[in-house]
Amino acid sequence: MRRGLALMGALLCAGAGAAETPATQAVLAARGAAGYARSCARCHRDPAKVLEPLTWELSGRAPEERAIWLKDFVLNHHSPGEEGAEALAAYLAGLL
Ligand code: HEC
Repeated sequence: MRRGLALMGALLCAGAGAAETPATQAVLAARGAAGYARSCARCHRDPAKVLEPLTWELSGRAPEERAIWLKDFVLNHHSPGEEGAEALAAYLAGLL
């Protein structure tokens, strides 16, 4: 929950004049945090821990690449649908 609030803060700070991409990413990630609570948290309480088994695969990649990899994973694991998976991936990619 605290993470979600931090993301909302980042979102507000991204306001006027900011480049479009970071703001879009922040919006996606905030949506992803809510999606995590809905689709994943009942089995994986701690979003930071859920990525531990994947660090060997993800830690060497740029955030955008991590998001692509994670979207693919989420689409095949209790998928919240195409849009939900993209938001979730943006959220999770920012946690590493
Ligand atoms: C019904 C319970 C359940 C839900 C809901 C669920 N998971 Fe899992 N998840 C598991 C179990 C059990 C495992 C370990 C076995 C496996 O790899 O399938 C796992 C494994 C994982 C792993 C580690 C994969 C690996 O290679 O070791 C990740 C990452 C993960 N889940 C992310 C998510 C995300 C993100 C969501 C939300 C979209 C989610 N899970 C929803 C039960 C769940």
